Amino acid sequence: MDHFLYRDGALYAEDVPVAEIAAAVGTPFYVYSTATLLRHFRLFDEALSGMDHLVCFAMKAASNQAILKTLAQAGAGMDVVSQGEYLRAKAAGVPGDKIVFSGVGKTAEEIHTALTGGIRQFNVESEPEMETINKVALDLGVTAPITIRVNPDVDAKTHAKIATGKSENKFGIPISRAREVYALAASMKGLEVIGIDVHIGSQLTELEPFRLAYQKVAELTETLRADGHNIRRLDLGGGLGIPYERSNDAPPLPVEYGAMVKETLGHLNVEIEIEPGRLIAGNSGIMVSKVIYVKQGEDRQFLILDGAMNDLIRPAMYEAHHDIIPVIEAEPGTEQTAYDIVGPVCESGDTFAKGRMMTPLQADDLVAFRSAGAYGAVMSSEYNSRPLIPEVLVNGDQFAVIRKRPTFDEMINRDTIPEWL
Ligand code: LLP
Repeated sequence: MDHFLYRDGALYAEDVPVAEIAAAVGTPFYVYSTATLLRHFRLFDEALSGMDHLVCFAMKAASNQAILKTLAQAGAGMDVVSQGEYLRAKAAGVPGDKIVFSGVGKTAEEIHTALTGGIRQFNVESEPEMETINKVALDLGVTAPITIRVNPDVDAKTHAKIATGKSENKFGIPISRAREVYALAASMKGLEVIGIDVHIGSQLTELEPFRLAYQKVAELTETLRADGHNIRRLDLGGGLGIPYERSNDAPPLPVEYGAMVKETLGHLNVEIEIEPGRLIAGNSGIMVSKVIYVKQGEDRQFLILDGAMNDLIRPAMYEAHHDIIPVIEAEPGTEQTAYDIVGPVCESGDTFAKGRMMTPLQADDLVAFRSAGAYGAVMSSEYNSRPLIPEVLVNGDQFAVIRKRPTFDEMINRDTIPEWL
């Protein structure tokens, strides 16, 4: 459920007409709903109630300061994967002891920043990385809290580019080698082993792969405890999917996910941490774009928008589906027509949808891409020298620009020209 609904045929973001935002900031732009962000965070928080837990938002999904602050004020922690994300989280007021550091390639500099600024734990992905964390911690005279990310070799049944829990993926250490690697960690004086981490992929639409992975983690918890490790925290990663296509079956709900977590891990008396990104931010944001031209091709009609693959790359990169809806609805009963919906970038891959059935549109009409709040703005670029598009946050009947559109001069002046030119 989200807060982008029609009222008398006009699309609203909470209590604000989307067309009003478009008139104020120009198109294309992203707009997020505070109520939806908070609702999704709370669904997870409540799903894990009764267990000691922390919901750490995977801020790679959406990292605007205003979004982070909204979630942090509601009690969310953050899952970060770079120094930039770490510093963004801190800047948004998230305390270090609510920030977990994930990612396969943490550098000594990143580790140093996190150890001096405060960190809940590092999720370690390899032995060389473990050695680096140990060294930086010893140099600073501190101990670094760690979990080790295990790769459970489970098929997440999602798009290959976003599956991470198979043995062929670069993530984590094979679960079969866990005892050996935990023993090595325990021998390092700069580390404090506190738990286990697992994340098997993104946009999972079934609970079974999670269940398989968590059962393996439960067994491993008991084995490692028997080996003398004080395993007291399990980081279960993110990955619960969202319904991109309203017509399809919906993926499991957070409450069902929470029940499965309690079933598989509830007996272990551990603190649970989860790292959802998409489910919190995905349906909390839409991208609004304007029709520039309707072009009649030989055997099809093209809807050419002012938004493009550089603004929302998911369709080009993962063949992802986003529902595209008119901001002003057609009269009831209006017949639909098929469009290839494209952007103006000079690549055939700049196609959002093929043969999509829509009520007829014309130049200057506005459309909204649903479910664009996660992995939308954060993955955008200025390809074709198209300035990054603005982000707007709605809260009830108010809205604010939370990242402004750069001017062309600002974009151009980021380049510097060597003195010999
Ligand atoms: N934790 C870790 C260690 C991750 O690698 C990820 C996502 C998450 C949590 C959050 O997963 P979520 O709950 O959002 O599924 N750009 C792709 C998605 C990449 C996901 C990468 N890792 C997309 O647009 O579909």
